[in-house]
Amino acid sequence: MNKKTFYITTPIYYPSAKLHIGNTYTTVAADAIARFKRLTGYDVMFLTGTDEHGQKIQRIAEEKGVTPKQYVDKVVAGIQELWKMMDIKYDKFIRTTDEYHKKAVQKLFKQLYDKGDIYKGAYEGWYCTPCESFWTETQAVDGKCPDCGRPVEKAKEEAYFFKMSKYADKLIEYIETHPDFIQPESRKNEMINNFLKPGLQDLCVSRTTFNWGIPVEFDPGHVIYVWVDALSNYITALGYNGEDTTLYDKYWPCDIHLIGKDILRFHTIYWPIMLMALGLPLPKQVFGHGWLLFDGGVKMSKSKGNVVDPVILVDHFGVDAVRYYLLHEIPFGSDGIFTNEIFIKKTNSDLANDLGNLLSRTVTMIEKYFDGVIPKPDETADVDNELIELALSIPSKVESAIDDLKIPEALDHVWTLIRRTNKYIDETTPWILGKDEAQKGRLGTVLYNLVESLRMTSVLISAFLPTTSKKINAQINTDVVTWDSLSSFDGTIAGTKVNKGDVMFPRIDVEAKIEELNLLVEEERKLARKPTMLPIKEEITIEDFDKIDMRVVKVLECVQMKKTKKLLKLKVDLGGEVRQVISGIAMNYKPEDLIGKYVVLVANLKPVNLRGELSQGMIIAASTDDDSKLFTISIPGELPTGSTVR
Ligand code: MSP
Repeated sequence: MNKKTFYITTPIYYPSAKLHIGNTYTTVAADAIARFKRLTGYDVMFLTGTDEHGQKIQRIAEEKGVTPKQYVDKVVAGIQELWKMMDIKYDKFIRTTDEYHKKAVQKLFKQLYDKGDIYKGAYEGWYCTPCESFWTETQAVDGKCPDCGRPVEKAKEEAYFFKMSKYADKLIEYIETHPDFIQPESRKNEMINNFLKPGLQDLCVSRTTFNWGIPVEFDPGHVIYVWVDALSNYITALGYNGEDTTLYDKYWPCDIHLIGKDILRFHTIYWPIMLMALGLPLPKQVFGHGWLLFDGGVKMSKSKGNVVDPVILVDHFGVDAVRYYLLHEIPFGSDGIFTNEIFIKKTNSDLANDLGNLLSRTVTMIEKYFDGVIPKPDETADVDNELIELALSIPSKVESAIDDLKIPEALDHVWTLIRRTNKYIDETTPWILGKDEAQKGRLGTVLYNLVESLRMTSVLISAFLPTTSKKINAQINTDVVTWDSLSSFDGTIAGTKVNKGDVMFPRIDVEAKIEELNLLVEEERKLARKPTMLPIKEEITIEDFDKIDMRVVKVLECVQMKKTKKLLKLKVDLGGEVRQVISGIAMNYKPEDLIGKYVVLVANLKPVNLRGELSQGMIIAASTDDDSKLFTISIPGELPTGSTVR
């Protein structure tokens, strides 16, 4: 018989966003759900990826002096590393720069255009030329650009629009007749009352002011709006509009789009309307989870003092301490708090005390009383039956909690079993039984039950804390990790030898560790400034090198560019000719530091437009990879401007 399918997605991440533990939350939660569904017999497709187009990426790349593709390639590799470290087991990773995705999106755009749902119109508004940005009447206060303060002009630009309004009523009806579609419930009302009921405007779905995006195939001066590009990933990843649609046919419509509450509007209004227009079924559920905040409701990105870098946390506490915190401490659907202190205390109480101790006590006693061999159970007493009954009742509770996407509750059920098992040790006092040879049979039963309870725990946590589950299995020497094995309390094989291992979660000294982490946060800040050595580029010939024409120039004028902290606008003298150069060195030089200086210019570089200003060449500088330290190559004495540099 074919297995039931289950398709779950996370948002695709912006490479420009620094990943803190807050935004690893969506992916860890989706991973836990996906693993759980695999464990309980589903054929799962878990999709994640990266959202790589848009003006912001283009600007960052420009400022770094690399192409957007070079920039995203490097960051995406880091994101994939991070997911590996967090034990994320996705089935597919999509990048919006993948060729198949770009082609499928172009096709999709054309389908909507041919159908008349996308039309060419004009975008009208107030335009700020230096910033290349359009503003609405209310945004452009007193006729000035809200970003740089310079005067804006009335401007009109060709653009493509999506007839959102055409589908508004149909969408309201769909939402109202499908109560599971937007979850949690409160978020549904917000979408209907704040966005849909007041009326939808047609959405501008193309841009001409930058080019880092998917070009509209039949009008290449336009690139497709980044959200149309990004949302489509959920079907293009399955082969929609591609050569092989097997995955699409098998998995669409999606069971859950798991997202943060901040991007709910895109997923519950734009995305379903796009699907309706394409004549495709809508996802079964969009679940908007809450945010991970600092104490006092402070946003992660504004971190002060607390460690938010998942790499550091995993390094110090292990991946499952971080996963446990994310999955258990944040009420699924609402906001949750993160502080180093709560995190460490929880790790100590739930993981080190409750679970870690249970395992080490059990294995130690089997070594002590049975030479490390798991004993055969004898007759069961009432106290054993109580434990067994409870253990057998847990799996279905965990399963229904996950069906309702209540991950913390699912873990609570598992911890009920762990705590009950610890209580069982107190009740049965195996250390006393061990003193009396006549009680050997009874002791064997108690220890067998402890191992079996740990084995069940290990299966139950395997979706949430996969590394810990493997560690438990290694110590109690079992490979019976199927969901079916939870239906009876006898999966442990007597006669197997246990392997005592390291303490899984060493107890942490809270004060000392917080102190250490504080120092680390400080260290990290300094480290961020530490230079890294980039690999040496491909070999070139002297002829290749000779193509680069570097000249001595004198800086005549220099001003800070508006709306960016990084760029300076310079006027330089190149042998009598005055050139304008935009240079990303403003973090390291004040304009007055440079005026009068002799620096080196790449004089034959093709001119480009940066932030609406012409840049005729590039000033040479030596810098760290992240530009935190940077020095222009300056000429110590006076040389005629235009002198060559070789
Ligand atoms: N690229 C878009 C999504 C496109 S989906 C077609 C995007 N990317 S993001 O990198 O900014 O965000 C990724 C996810 O991280 C989102 O679900 C966002 O809500 C989530 N989070 C970012 N900060 C967060 C917290 N502090 N806490 C929990 N989740 C948060 O949006």
